[in-house]
Amino acid sequence: MTEPLVLGIETSCDETGIGIVRGNTLLADEVASSVDQHARFGGVVPEVASRAHLEAMVPTIERACSTAGVKLDDVDAIAVTAGPGLAGALLVGVASAKALALALGKPIYGVNHLAAHVCVDQLEHGQLIEPSVAMLVSGGHSSLLLVPDITRDVVALGQTIDDAAGEAFDKVARVLGLPFPGGPYIDAAARDGNPQAIDFPRGLSNPKDFANHRFDVSFSGLKTAVARWVEREQRAGNAVMVNDVAASFQEAVVDVLTRKAIDACLSNDVGTLVIGGGVAANSRLRVVAQQRCDEHGISLRIPRPGLCTDNGAMVAALGSELVRRGRDESQLSFSADSSMLVTQVVAP
Ligand code: KG4
Ligand code: ZN
Repeated sequence: MTEPLVLGIETSCDETGIGIVRGNTLLADEVASSVDQHARFGGVVPEVASRAHLEAMVPTIERACSTAGVKLDDVDAIAVTAGPGLAGALLVGVASAKALALALGKPIYGVNHLAAHVCVDQLEHGQLIEPSVAMLVSGGHSSLLLVPDITRDVVALGQTIDDAAGEAFDKVARVLGLPFPGGPYIDAAARDGNPQAIDFPRGLSNPKDFANHRFDVSFSGLKTAVARWVEREQRAGNAVMVNDVAASFQEAVVDVLTRKAIDACLSNDVGTLVIGGGVAANSRLRVVAQQRCDEHGISLRIPRPGLCTDNGAMVAALGSELVRRGRDESQLSFSADSSMLVTQVVAP
């Protein structure tokens, strides 16, 4: 049998992503982002995102088909993000996917956004090694997962107990007067800063936290510490050393994330770490993760930045894997689920 041709639709946040894959081969990855419309609010406005998805959906699908050189009729299955994400935004993708599946008479898979973030690595580095540990860090999530089978067995090891990692980057950027989304700007500013300039707190990293929060993370204390530090400097009439604050903040985030990810690998006897989500684009995270994985003989897989942020290719990649392994498709009546648990890879 030839590899399945799958169209993936992603609308869980502010990116309308349409991806087309054949097996593990990426044929098209078209993304229309509404990020500019949210910038002045300093965060994603759900209603604005939903409307932007509606406008972008048809043209983005058409662009993806044209890039891939396929007709909608050729597609073997439709995959769509069923959750987690913004309810209204998810609904646009799910309704569009259902309409396509119904009109084309093709199966539909309502998939988990987090599992898709992990599976996308297959498009770049080949078949996922199972079990893997996956760390997903973005504006909406910070999760450590154990992945024995990406199509039906994903275990949540830990998550953030307050802000997501990307959210922390975005909020600290705001405090420093940098634009939204702040991650790339902090990353750039940190290149000219001293990561040891300020000793910011590492949340949930004391031995006493290990009993209940060994694989959880917390960034709200760090965010507050940065805000207080900046306020104090301003009150004292000192110029805020933006580069040093950015570098020291980034170092604290990267230190905690990589330590926890390595601990998750070692304690579960897993030799592969996959990192995904928008924050995986962070240059310092990539360097430190590689160093620490090398020290412990763990193989590290991070997709290129364009595949780490939200996109349709990741949804198509997971859809393709579900088809290849003969997993059940979703009923056409499945719902978008804004708080879909990571343990549920496909909506029934
Ligand atoms: O995965 P993503 O595109 O969307 C979701 O939030 O689901 O991730 C966006 C997040 C934003 O918070 C952004 O600031 C962060 O990823 N980000 C980064 C970098 N590039 C994007 N954070 C740190 N360093 C970066 N280079
Ligand atoms: Zn995401």
